[in-house]
Amino acid sequence: MEEKFKEKNILIVGASSGIGHNLAKHLLSEGANLITASRKKPEDIDAPHIELDVLDFDAKELQNQLPDALHGLAYCPGSINLKPFTRLDENDFLNDFKINALGAAKIAQACMIPLKKAKGAGIIFFSTVAVQTGMGFHASIASAKGAVEGLTRSLAAELVNSKIRVNAIAPSLTDTPLAANLLSSDEKREASAKRHPLGTVGQPQDMAKAASYLLSEDSSWITGQVLKIDGGLSSLRNL
Ligand SMILES: NC(=O)c1ccc[n+]([C@@H]2O[C@H](COP(=O)([O-])OP(=O)(O)OC[C@H]3O[C@@H](n4cnc5c(N)ncnc54)[C@H](OP(=O)(O)O)[C@@H]3O)[C@@H](O)[C@H]2O)c1
Repeated sequence: MEEKFKEKNILIVGASSGIGHNLAKHLLSEGANLITASRKKPEDIDAPHIELDVLDFDAKELQNQLPDALHGLAYCPGSINLKPFTRLDENDFLNDFKINALGAAKIAQACMIPLKKAKGAGIIFFSTVAVQTGMGFHASIASAKGAVEGLTRSLAAELVNSKIRVNAIAPSLTDTPLAANLLSSDEKREASAKRHPLGTVGQPQDMAKAASYLLSEDSSWITGQVLKIDGGLSSLRNL
């Protein structure tokens, strides 16, 4: 089997759970030299781990643990904080912004030297379907992920001459620990599945396969894009 990521150094921030965990398995099976970073060491992922909290880390310390050249970076931390607008306070907005947008920007900044050294690298961020499709109770998370989409396109433009492609994935509801509350009963799961034209909620591998494609040379002419992976929710209507 062809190993698409042979000799490619890839950092996944947030490989201990959900989409990032699935992406880690996928990249390892494709021969990547994987490095993971998060608060907990991922289970059953055979790769060097950097213990790090994206809300409070020392960029120099992270840089010292990275290889000379980094061919890929996936930033997976995020939040689902759904509340009526009048119940959202300043901390909700700030916390969502910090974990989703500021963390992504600071991690990408800390990785810039080895990403440039690779002379051909990819960055993946995660947005949400609720940025480009308005959804009630999503004001805080959609604001934060809207910033992620702005970051994606700005960095894609700024880094194009450094041969770094920057793309994002905008998932709808995906069956991971982050979404556990929204899928905590058969009734909720069924109702969520029905809202999607393709009739199911997303699986982590749906996002991981797309992230793997966007990190690989198969997508070498794609940058500055936000790929909607949402079972048709944002673009189809079931009549
Ligand atoms: N699941 C969905 O329905 C859904 C929908 C739309 C968008 N998304 C987005 O997709 C991305 C992945 O989501 P997921 O569902 O896979 O989430 P998840 O299961 O909660 O996994 C998140 C990962 O990020 C890490 N992480 C969280 N906070 C961190 C911190 N402060 N410092 C370092 N690492 C941290 C976690 O590791 P540790 O706990 O070990 O630190 C974990 O490995 C997120 O950006 C999310 O917003 C998900």
